[in-house]
Amino acid sequence: MLPEVVFVLGAPGAGKGTQCSLISEEFDFVHLSAGDLLREERQRPGSEYGEMIEEKIRNGEIVPVEVTCSLIHKAMEKSDKNRFLIDGFPRNKDNLDGWQRVMSDKTKLLFVLFFECSRELCTSRCLGRGAAGSGRSDDNLESLQKRFNTYMNDTLPIINHYDKLGMVRRVNAESAPSEVFEHVKKCFTNLDVQS
Ligand code: C5P
Ligand code: MG
Repeated sequence: MLPEVVFVLGAPGAGKGTQCSLISEEFDFVHLSAGDLLREERQRPGSEYGEMIEEKIRNGEIVPVEVTCSLIHKAMEKSDKNRFLIDGFPRNKDNLDGWQRVMSDKTKLLFVLFFECSRELCTSRCLGRGAAGSGRSDDNLESLQKRFNTYMNDTLPIINHYDKLGMVRRVNAESAPSEVFEHVKKCFTNLDVQS
């Protein structure tokens, strides 16, 4: 059976990572965060992409898909599981095209989970995360403005693309994590994947 995939999208600070952790605790999905995989690759001694990744992350820009897609692909292969939450991907047309080229025949996309949250709340969450010591070089106001521009200009069109295909499940992500998760659960319970 082809590996099954759910793409998880939403503005920076919408709660993608938090909800993916909760989903993977309750359902049989492996959480793969594109941002986390890129941050890991940036730290890997000898990585030829470290500096490029750091610059893109600090500027809220999107890393070329060849790098991101191969990290995702490797992480999927390393796992012995067959269902994946791919968090923070595809973020732009380059991501989408690269995935279609290399991965769409190898996987089955179940749906796109889209977290909706106001810019104000997302910004204050990311700034709070930075103040609490996230250590992320992009949880500051300047990077956040750039991340939001990228989200509006490059990521929303991808969500619209999947929306036209009827593949988007949207969840309001403005309340507390446990309350958001109550709604998220409904997207997964009809998949016969409960562990
Ligand atoms: O999803 P997350 O907020 O962790 O992403 C942090 C940064 O990682 C993004 O702003 C972007 O610079 C980079 N990224 C990327 N391509 C992706 C996901 C994340 O370049 N598909
Ligand atoms: Mg995240």
